[in-house]
Amino acid sequence: MDFSNPILIDLPMPIVTPRLILRNCQPGDGVEMHEMKIETWDEIHRWMPWATELGTPDESEVNIREAYVNFIQRKDIRIHGYERETGRMVLCSGLHRFTWALRRFEIGFWVRASAQGQGYATESTNALIRYAFEVLDARAVKIEHAEGNEKSKRVIEKLGLEYEGIKRAGQLLPDGNIVDHPQYSRTSLDGLPDLDVCWG
Ligand SMILES: CC(C)(COP(=O)(O)OP(=O)(O)OC[C@H]1O[C@@H](n2cnc3c(N)ncnc32)[C@H](O)[C@@H]1OP(=O)(O)O)[C@@H](O)C(=O)NCCC(=O)NCCS
Repeated sequence: MDFSNPILIDLPMPIVTPRLILRNCQPGDGVEMHEMKIETWDEIHRWMPWATELGTPDESEVNIREAYVNFIQRKDIRIHGYERETGRMVLCSGLHRFTWALRRFEIGFWVRASAQGQGYATESTNALIRYAFEVLDARAVKIEHAEGNEKSKRVIEKLGLEYEGIKRAGQLLPDGNIVDHPQYSRTSLDGLPDLDVCWG
């Protein structure tokens, strides 16, 4: 793959797993995203550094359109996930903080409260790890979590990422607390739990 002009890089979508359809964020997703944020606010406000203010549906739409621009420019890959059975939006994830020269991608994720505990974070993240290595020729895929976020840690463990170390005082949480930030990564698909996934 030629990475010299990122805007020409093909990013086949959607990504389809047994229970989910994952696709890049798109204009118009804001209303559903905002409902998802309201429903999940206690948890995302606790753990996600960006979740300082709930805001309005229009602000969610603005944020999504900005993410869509970044997707088109190949600067960031924001992914929204939908239940195949019901069509409802259930998660937000993505491949972030990368350069095309280095191709070390970071995955972040959150799942709406009413859809948690069914393995969706694990299923979608497994698919994105595969996408990173198989489509984007990743050299590494990284995930980090705030110290104390046991559910997030469990997802990382289930996907067999290796512990790299801890970034001391690595994250400022929305409540003002600063926490350590354990780091994990994979450099290949070896040992990743099986998953039926296709894209494009
Ligand atoms: C973390 C999060 C994405 C998990 O989503 P999910 O779809 O429920 O995750 P999964 O069902 O794939 O896996 C969750 C695992 O955590 C386990 N778990 C649940 N509560 C737990 C707890 N208090 N302590 C430890 N493990 C816990 C579940 O049992 C499950 O593991 P198992 O399959 O071995 O039983 C979701 O809780 C969330 O959106 N949290 C708020 C945002 C966030 O923290 N994002 C991560 C930032 S790094």
